[in-house]
Amino acid sequence: MQKKYIAAFDQGTTSTRTIIFNTDGEIVGIGQKELTQHYPKSGWVEHNPIDIYNDQLETFKEAIKKSNINPAELVAVGITNQRETTVVWDKETGEPVYNAIVWLDKRTKAICEELKAKDLSSYIQENTGLIIDSYFSGTKLKWILDNVEGVKEKADQGKLCFGTIDSWLIYKFTNGEKHLTDHTNASRTMLYNIKDLSWDETILNALDIPKSLLPSVQQSSSDFGSINFEDEQIPIYGVAGDQQASLFGQGGFKSGIAKNTYGTGCFILLNIGRKQVVSNNGLLTTLTCTLENEPTKYALEGSVFVGGASIQWLRDRMKIIDKASDTEAICNSIPSLKDVYVVPAFAGLGAPYWDQEAKGSIYGMTLDTGRNEIIKATVESLAYQTKDVINAMITDSSKEMITLKVDGGASANNYLMQFQSDILNVEVDRPKMIEVTAFGAALLAGIKSGVWTLNDIDTIRKVDTVFQTKMTPKARKKKYKGWLKAIEKTQTKGKKKK
Ligand code: G3P
Repeated sequence: MQKKYIAAFDQGTTSTRTIIFNTDGEIVGIGQKELTQHYPKSGWVEHNPIDIYNDQLETFKEAIKKSNINPAELVAVGITNQRETTVVWDKETGEPVYNAIVWLDKRTKAICEELKAKDLSSYIQENTGLIIDSYFSGTKLKWILDNVEGVKEKADQGKLCFGTIDSWLIYKFTNGEKHLTDHTNASRTMLYNIKDLSWDETILNALDIPKSLLPSVQQSSSDFGSINFEDEQIPIYGVAGDQQASLFGQGGFKSGIAKNTYGTGCFILLNIGRKQVVSNNGLLTTLTCTLENEPTKYALEGSVFVGGASIQWLRDRMKIIDKASDTEAICNSIPSLKDVYVVPAFAGLGAPYWDQEAKGSIYGMTLDTGRNEIIKATVESLAYQTKDVINAMITDSSKEMITLKVDGGASANNYLMQFQSDILNVEVDRPKMIEVTAFGAALLAGIKSGVWTLNDIDTIRKVDTVFQTKMTPKARKKKYKGWLKAIEKTQTKGKKKK
């Protein structure tokens, strides 16, 4: 019998990868390349779209080589990508008109202010699930139209295409045949109406964006065209933004399931089911991965700006650890902390506090506070910040949370995972294979190609450890109360909802 494999393209902010999975969901080969970052001005972040395509192709070849498979054995490709990052290219030539403006880029603050001044804040939140911010694609696209010479005219003549990175890769890999995106990526543009699943005319008009620029939107698990690779036609059967792909890979197509990816920041998503909820606590509402013949489901999303980045700070700035993995043994080597809290508000405070001016702080130090205590308090801050976001999710959705599924680099830290379970009072479930984002994209493609069904996810996803709460309710209450006090002292604005 012929062997079958699925390739996942995982195009992230800092690196581009291809991971090949067998039908048991095991990794058989990985290709990886770091992505060059461009910072033309303070607050601006760009990527070269041609680099992105070339890197993806290169890693695809590398992964095939390392897996020792025949391209004919690849039944499908799934694409997952850094979300919101914006590319505009010429329909005829396929040439980008400007670099990709990355999600982190802050240049469109003024355009956001204009939208707010037009009184569109509530409209945008109710219809796109998002808060007006330069994070999302809409104002980045507007900036390219208004600031790159000749672009607006060409756009008005229907000669250009806009896309997030998934659309760009689909277009390139199908030889310019397809201009498509999926629901998850569309829902991050601030141009897509998540209530009626269509591009939103009111917002397009407010930003003067011609509709002809926009890709058609499909289910995340559907036919996005084919890649011609060494005379083989390999279909692209899955597409999703990276955070939604990881929710899917964690089995999060069911409502009530939440995941946290502990990366540089932390991205927390909770599947809230078929009914859209508008957050009162500064969270975003977004679309989860969609499948043909399955209902559309929503998720609440909250992000912690500084997660693993605070561990990097301990290593690179404070120079009190050699490597991130040292922190687990250090945390275990000292007793439970008494009132020492690090609030890593190095980039302000995110959800649910939203205080841009707040600065990082340490509280509760006494003469016996030393290096180890600071390290432990920094590790614990990831868990406290996650609890803040999850509390807001529970308040907004009125859903109870039983399990938090985890992935990302810092999820390898057993101390942190146990503390997370303790402070949340929910079980924390870490899978064996932590490449969950790529796995989610592979699953979407595998389901469309008939290799897997939705029901297979739970058997393919193998549990590594389930951390159960050990802390007493009294200790939990006391510790979290101390954290909230530290937050209160850190805030520059009046005390906000928790
Ligand atoms: O919303 C931004 C997010 O999709 C970026 O993810 O993993 O590329 O940093 P990552």
